[in-house]
Amino acid sequence: MKILLDESEIRKGIHRLAAQLNGRYEHQTLTIVSIMTGSLVMLADLIRCLEMPVRISLIQASSYRGTMTSGELRIQDQMMLDISGRDVLLIDDIFDTGKTLEQVSARLLELQPRSLQTAVFLNKSGQSVVATRPDYVVFEIPNAFVVGYGLDYEDLYRNLPHVAILEPSDIEKHPPI
Ligand code: IMP
Ligand code: MG
Repeated sequence: MKILLDESEIRKGIHRLAAQLNGRYEHQTLTIVSIMTGSLVMLADLIRCLEMPVRISLIQASSYRGTMTSGELRIQDQMMLDISGRDVLLIDDIFDTGKTLEQVSARLLELQPRSLQTAVFLNKSGQSVVATRPDYVVFEIPNAFVVGYGLDYEDLYRNLPHVAILEPSDIEKHPPI
C-alpha cells in the first residue's frame, strides 16, 4: 500500500488542529461529538492535545447500502450527551460527498447547541455535493480510496498508524475474510 500520510505528519496535523481549537474555545467547555467508527483514532489523539474542559459524545452514522443510493443516513444517537446550550465540535474521519457531515450537523442543530463547528481529518478534494464545508480540515487529499488512522475498507485497516491508498491489488492480496 502506498503511504499518503505517515505517523509524524499526522501527529503534526493533529497538533495544528488542537492549537486552532485551543485558541477558539480557550477556557470554554467543549463537547466533542465523534462520528463512529472512523473518527475514534483522531478523537483519542486530539483530546489529549486540548487544554479546555472536554466532554465526549459518540454518534453512529451509516449510509443505507444496496439499491438505494439516496445518500440517506441511519443515525444512532443512544450514546449522545445532552448538547443543548453547549459549544459543540462535530468530528469525522473524512469529508467525501459531505452528506454525512451535513446530515449529522442538521440532527445536532435540532438539539439546540449554543454553537456548532465541524472538523474532519481528511477532505477529499472535489468530491463534495453539499453547500457547506467543514470548519477545520487537517489534511486535503486527492480523490483516492484511503485506509488507516480510523478509516476502513470493509471494517479492516482502521488500526494502521498511517494513511495509505488502497489499490485493488491490495484487496486481492489481503482479501477480507
Ligand atoms: P461522505 O460521502 O462525506 O458522506 O462520507 C461518508 C463516509 O464515507 C465517511 O465517513 C467514511 O466512512 C466513508 N469514506 C469516504 N471516503 C472514504 C475513503 O477513502 N476511505 C474510507 N472511507 C471513506
Ligand atoms: Mg465512516
